Amino acid sequence: MAEEVPVTVRDGDREETLSVERGTTLRRALRDADFEVYAPAAKVANCSGRGICATCGVRVWDGAGEEPDADHWHDALAARYGYPRLSCQLTVDQPLTVELIEKRYWGQLLPRRE
Ligand code: FES
Repeated sequence: MAEEVPVTVRDGDREETLSVERGTTLRRALRDADFEVYAPAAKVANCSGRGICATCGVRVWDGAGEEPDADHWHDALAARYGYPRLSCQLTVDQPLTVELIEKRYWGQLLPRRE
């Protein structure tokens, strides 16, 4: 039996903890639970999880409050420069907290402002 991992998702006022099969991509887990990672235009025009379009960005932290390591070059750039992480390039292999980002048209992937 596959191990389940908790993923807490915040989307505005909505917060829900999902039980996600270890090894699932974060994009798939979010979409399966009816959380939308895309802006309206990107919902129909995205790279289907190939790590190219950069429209599936979310904020994400592990149990220690750190961003998970990046495996994919494009996600590594996002991590390095403080942009939202590519949910299609993150595998759920530990408890995570995810914050969805309001996107109006496309990806609106802006660096974090602190
Ligand atoms: S779906 Fe295109 S980069 Fe994630």
